[in-house]
Amino acid sequence: MLLTHPWMHALDDARQPETDPADWAEFVARTSAEMPRIHGLMTELYGSERVDAELAAFVTQLAESWQHRPAELRAVDAARLADPDWFQSNQMLGGVCYVDRYAGDLEGVRARIPYFIELGLTYLHLMPLFEAPAENSDGGYAVSSYREVNPALGDMAQLQSLAAELRANGIALVLDFIFNHTSNEHEWARRAIAGEQEFENYYWVFDGREQPDAFEATVREIFPDDHPGSFVPFPHPDGTVPSRAEAERWVWATFHTFQWDLNYSNPAVMRAMAGEMLFLANQGIDVLRMDAVAFIWKQLGTSCENLPEAHLLIQIFTAALRIAAPAVMFKSEAIVHPDQVVEYISVDECRISYNPLQMALIWNSLATRDVRLLQQALDRRHNLPPGTAWVNYVRSHDDIGWTFADEDAAEFGINGFDHRRFLNNFFVNRFPGSFARGIPFQDNPKTGDCRISGTTASLAGLEAGDAGAIRRILLAHSIVLSTGGIPLIYLGDEVGQLNDPHWADVPAQADDSRWAHRPHYPAELYAQRSDPTTDAGRIFAGLQHLIAVRRATPEFSGGTLIGFDTKNPHVLGYQRPGPAGAIVCFANVADQPHTIAALTLSGLPGTMIDLLTDARHTLRAGLTLPAHGVVWLRADPESASYPAPARTAVLPDGTPRAS
Ligand code: GLC
Ligand code: GLC
Repeated sequence: MLLTHPWMHALDDARQPETDPADWAEFVARTSAEMPRIHGLMTELYGSERVDAELAAFVTQLAESWQHRPAELRAVDAARLADPDWFQSNQMLGGVCYVDRYAGDLEGVRARIPYFIELGLTYLHLMPLFEAPAENSDGGYAVSSYREVNPALGDMAQLQSLAAELRANGIALVLDFIFNHTSNEHEWARRAIAGEQEFENYYWVFDGREQPDAFEATVREIFPDDHPGSFVPFPHPDGTVPSRAEAERWVWATFHTFQWDLNYSNPAVMRAMAGEMLFLANQGIDVLRMDAVAFIWKQLGTSCENLPEAHLLIQIFTAALRIAAPAVMFKSEAIVHPDQVVEYISVDECRISYNPLQMALIWNSLATRDVRLLQQALDRRHNLPPGTAWVNYVRSHDDIGWTFADEDAAEFGINGFDHRRFLNNFFVNRFPGSFARGIPFQDNPKTGDCRISGTTASLAGLEAGDAGAIRRILLAHSIVLSTGGIPLIYLGDEVGQLNDPHWADVPAQADDSRWAHRPHYPAELYAQRSDPTTDAGRIFAGLQHLIAVRRATPEFSGGTLIGFDTKNPHVLGYQRPGPAGAIVCFANVADQPHTIAALTLSGLPGTMIDLLTDARHTLRAGLTLPAHGVVWLRADPESASYPAPARTAVLPDGTPRAS
């Protein structure tokens, strides 16, 4: 018996006469493969009564979008379907910047492509570049139109040609998909303000405080410096905004007052945002960064973070990409408890994700000169499912939050609350002898919560004139470059850019200390990058060397990592397995030399070569690392005997076991 679903008719109806029959057949095959799952997901989210109509509308949208997809992007689709692990290569290197601050505008970004090639970038995250309110835009994270580029930066045609030029140079373009909220100037918000019920239903608008109070009883405050709780006064129809005391209507705003959370319990919102997503995919974007992904579903009586429905929704969006723009993948931005960070990472949701735990624990190790928490995270929380990868970073455009698990810390007798307090004090230089020059972000006296702003160089001691600063900067980057996944550099850090001392002079930014670590393009420092007598030159040369060695080391592809217990709390250890044995990495976070005992190293080859210096180390005598020293060791091929490599075990019949 042939079953037909209403969506199949919708699919037939959406076919354009000019579409190539063979291409169409492939598209239909992809659609048919995904639809049973989408059917299930939509039923769970929106109920069975409306699911047939939803699916028909969804399929129509997908078919239209795919038929508009430019031929060169369909070629990328084909290439990535044939090589789905393209992003796991050890050649991958990411950079992130603000278009205006780093390069003026999109043409300015294009002009910097030769530099990106010099640095070795294969992944470029341009911070939000869409139309946004003039003053209050949270650096572009308040979007007024997903289909228009901010006119100060350029236009859509320029974005498309920039994407094409980056692609031609082997650089994938990463843009944000800011789908938790829109700006209060988005057309949907304007129409909601004007009284159109259809668009009011796109947001969470309530009469009176009863519902807002009920939600706020269990929801955490994200930007308490901006406004208490999660709700802000909803404007009058003429656009004026009542004071909190006078407000009668309230709208959900997790972040700033001008960023209104979308209501995905309304399927029209899901469909509308799927449309915006597919539009962006067709501009030539390779990766969509799922902004604030933890917050997208709300349910009374919960924290409204990381709810199961959030995952169902992302799975629907992922399936949509797989059908209509398979070259494109998601990157998760979930800066939450590590158990929840990994829930977003799978081939059915986000294939790549920020690794906020590693980021925070690198800083923790530098402050405490103790690697145990980072070692534990590498041992237990690092390996990801096949087909997925971390994006490892030293810092981002956002604050540093201490998102380690209290349970993990407790195993070492560390109290999470007290330890965060110590870290906050240390990084804002309220701790005697601290080398860090950070700034508090969203200091919340009610909860004791606080996060840290600062550039890598300022946090690592360069601003304070600390002698270990440059070595710390390189050590931190050595970890993100060698632990697997995509390393991501905040552009400007590679030449040691310090905090912007004038960040608070701009009134619209004065209450948001993250602007301290988002300075403008440091032309002077870049000019010094080949001068080894300058800090910028030393950092740049050190980083370039690490990058070059990474690229020449196939063991650094993929993400599999095996921890190595150095039995020395100052020295981090891990192995990256390869077909001919593992690369063994050690890093000493202390300000003094430290030794790993010979006995501890007895399972490793007797002689190993440091890929970073070509030095030959005889491990039978133990290994001493200088202050902040890093080694990446490979077995010396000339050394007589060394034990079986970590992962290519041999079966009893003598055949090697597949890893
Ligand atoms: C993400 C962005 C951050 C922004 C927030 C709201 O966390 O990284 O910069 O403030 O979302 O969009
Ligand atoms: C966003 C914000 C960050 C906050 C986090 C909470 O990433 O930018 O400041 O800590 O959300 O999940």
